[in-house]
Amino acid sequence: MFERLERMPDDPILGLMAAFRADPDTRKVDLGVGVYRNDKGETPVLDAVRKAEAAVLARQTSKTYVAPAGNAGFNQAMEKLVFGEGHPTVKANRVRTIQAPGGCGALRVGAELIRAAYPDAVVHVSTPTWANHVPLLTGSGIKLERYPYYDSATGGVNFSAMMEGLEKLQKGAIVLLHASCHNPTGADLSDQQWRDILALVQRRGLVPYIDMAYQGLGTGIAEDAFGPRLFAAELPEVLVAVSCSKNFGLYRERTGALHVINQTTTGADAILTQLVRIARTIYSMPPDHGAAIVHEILTNDALRGSWTDEVGTMRARIARLRTAAVAQLAKAAPQEDFSFIARQHGMFSFLGVDKDQVRELREKHHVYMTDDSRINIAGLKDDNIAYFADAVAQVVK
Ligand SMILES: Cc1ncc(COP(=O)(O)O)c(C=O)c1O
Repeated sequence: MFERLERMPDDPILGLMAAFRADPDTRKVDLGVGVYRNDKGETPVLDAVRKAEAAVLARQTSKTYVAPAGNAGFNQAMEKLVFGEGHPTVKANRVRTIQAPGGCGALRVGAELIRAAYPDAVVHVSTPTWANHVPLLTGSGIKLERYPYYDSATGGVNFSAMMEGLEKLQKGAIVLLHASCHNPTGADLSDQQWRDILALVQRRGLVPYIDMAYQGLGTGIAEDAFGPRLFAAELPEVLVAVSCSKNFGLYRERTGALHVINQTTTGADAILTQLVRIARTIYSMPPDHGAAIVHEILTNDALRGSWTDEVGTMRARIARLRTAAVAQLAKAAPQEDFSFIARQHGMFSFLGVDKDQVRELREKHHVYMTDDSRINIAGLKDDNIAYFADAVAQVVK
């Protein structure tokens, strides 16, 4: 039977990781895979996570099943983290949350919910968007289309083109938005732009689906959630898929949540039964460990304080690297303008060089990034920024 199956093409990111590992040059720089790194180039376990994990393990007396919707305490703590304490829609009991296997799991459960409600649904994603959005969303059977977003001339959002694109959508169309730290461009919406999109969404009857994978890594924990908080307060229906992979450093623990806002509490109850059904048809129940850790951190004042500081350190390091990269690039390649890198947020930016230049950076200079020239800023270090900038200067000259 399986002889009928053809081999799939290699995953470009995994290929890039393997090539980096195999490169013996000591100057090599890994700007490929999207994980946070500290000054030593490591992705360490956060202090708050270590402590919470010890407390969780010490208390744990059973490994019996939890529930298809996951850890109820985690779900409640995530509602508070994402929407803020005392959010009117949470208070009105119009939010239902299901723990999911990472942000990816949350995105997929949300897509399945959309398809169940509306089999011909079309989700509109930004141009460009995170490559995994495509298989995660279309894998459920819903269709995907694109709206304009990134402006390579400015390194910002082409907001008028975005609004024009959204204005043309049919009532009921789903619009996927990145809450902050847009992946892959780093170009984020301002608070005013979120307000403008809200007005358009209300006027046109669109349904927002927000992906928040970097809360706290852009401008702040509350600041990065401006869009989800505003939309949840003002709209009858919103989906928010959240990942704890980056801001809690829990990548392999597969920890995330899907929040669904409904117009009424009875509607919200019905949605929760659908979410549970979907979980049961895919993975039955989410893994518990990461969610138990996040729950412990968010409900213990000392751990929460330490986690907030650690997220602040990650955010500050990224911002500092952005400024330093711009300064070094300006020195090494004064004819080019890379100042947009410092105006963007989160781990990613497009360097804006072509495929051949990306290859040259990799083969001649041992600087690794994806073919679209997306760089993970957190992959830079104080002692290799100048090397990176010189390498870029040599390929763009
Ligand atoms: C935009 C975006 N959404 C969602 C995710 C989900 O990540 P995970 O499934 O590892 O939690 C990521 C991770 O890279 C991401 O960049």
